Amino acid sequence: MSESSTRLLQLVNFFFLALALLAVYYYAYRLRLELKQSDALRRESELYRDLFNATTEGVFQFDPEGRFTVINRAGAKLMGYDSPEAVLEAGVNVRSVITDRRERRRIRVLMATDGRVQNHFVAVSVPKADVRYVSLTLHRKRNADGTDGVYEGLFHDVTRRVALEEELWNYSDNLEKAVRQKTDEILNLERRKLHLEKLAAVGQTVAAFTHELRNPLSSIKMGVSTLLKRAKLDAGDRRVLELAGLEGQRLERLLKDVLDFARPQELRLIVQDLRPILERAADQLECQFRDRGASLERDIGRDLPAVAVDPERMMQVLQNLLLNALQAVRPVGGRVRLASVLLPDGETVRIEVTDNGEGIQPADLPQVFEPFFSRKSGGTGLGLTVVQKIVEAHRGRVRVTSRPMDGTAVQVELPAERTTQRGS
Ligand SMILES: Nc1ncnc2c1ncn2[C@@H]1O[C@H](COP(=O)(O)OP(=O)(O)O)[C@@H](O)[C@H]1O
Ligand SMILES: [Mg+2]
Repeated sequence: MSESSTRLLQLVNFFFLALALLAVYYYAYRLRLELKQSDALRRESELYRDLFNATTEGVFQFDPEGRFTVINRAGAKLMGYDSPEAVLEAGVNVRSVITDRRERRRIRVLMATDGRVQNHFVAVSVPKADVRYVSLTLHRKRNADGTDGVYEGLFHDVTRRVALEEELWNYSDNLEKAVRQKTDEILNLERRKLHLEKLAAVGQTVAAFTHELRNPLSSIKMGVSTLLKRAKLDAGDRRVLELAGLEGQRLERLLKDVLDFARPQELRLIVQDLRPILERAADQLECQFRDRGASLERDIGRDLPAVAVDPERMMQVLQNLLLNALQAVRPVGGRVRLASVLLPDGETVRIEVTDNGEGIQPADLPQVFEPFFSRKSGGTGLGLTVVQKIVEAHRGRVRVTSRPMDGTAVQVELPAERTTQRGS
């Protein structure tokens, strides 16, 4: 071998050696690079796993059949399971979590229209617990080949918020109702106050006026009766004077009603048994009932508690009611009943005047307490107005129920006095 060829061989050898060395270095470099990358990957995946399990948000995946394939700790807890493994092993299906069919349909509709569900409040059934509300965010993944894949999403508990919102809603609803009711009450009071003020103003004038009329009227009446007794009159003149006397009586009744109506309600209250007042009112009208051939029945409770009443005014109430009843019944077979009882509340005494008379037309019923409302020829329409005024001044109330052709019942309810002595 020539020297030159030996050198060439050495050169080639060296070249291959260098090449092999280079390859080794390159390989080592790649290996280190991959090692580094896989280290970063491992750290990254660890980070994601920690996040996945530490977040309070439920994270999940379920397959197209609805079976959960991935769930984190928070998700499992929210669904009422001890661990993610428990959910996966039990093969829990989303249908057994969202049990309400309408809710599932709503979610399907949202998925179909928007392609996803975002922060949608939905009720979930939790084993061994009450219904829980969650805010759900859901979308569907696409497979590499473009077909639809699994569902994945997030959810968190909003039960407390839903309850608070409901509470708030109820509260504001109640508040609104209370405000409306109070406003109505105030408006009614205002209206009533105005009404009373007007009545009081009219009342004062009328009272003064009526009072002035009384004296000349009694002079006229006296003159008429004197003439009737003493004068020698032919039958025609006598009839004229008698008529004048009757009209005078009617006018006197009218004046009395108007005066009662206009009189200010200053009561002289006496705490007393109601029975004597009831009996006396019935006694006074007994005669008129007999004259008309009607019966007056009494059913006055024995054990009534005492009531604070102005006896004179209460007599007036009873007389007005009994007279109305008498005027409403037929002469024959007319029956009127005066009754009184203590109501079961133990705090109210009810006086009731019932008759089997002509009754009141339903259309008239709301008007019977109005001043000057009357269906009688010669009626003043002030009787019931005065009754109501007196009863309300006693902190009581009066109610009329009636059926045409059947009869009428008027109930007066008065607050009983509380007895201070126990057991007596
Ligand atoms: N017991 C009753 N039965 C039938 N109608 C009644 C009775 N009480 C009251 N009414 C009706 O109510 C109206 C008003 O009664 P009231 O105020 O006493 O006035 P008046 O007796 O002067 O008509 C009467 O005209 C009558 O139509
Ligand atoms: Mg009357």
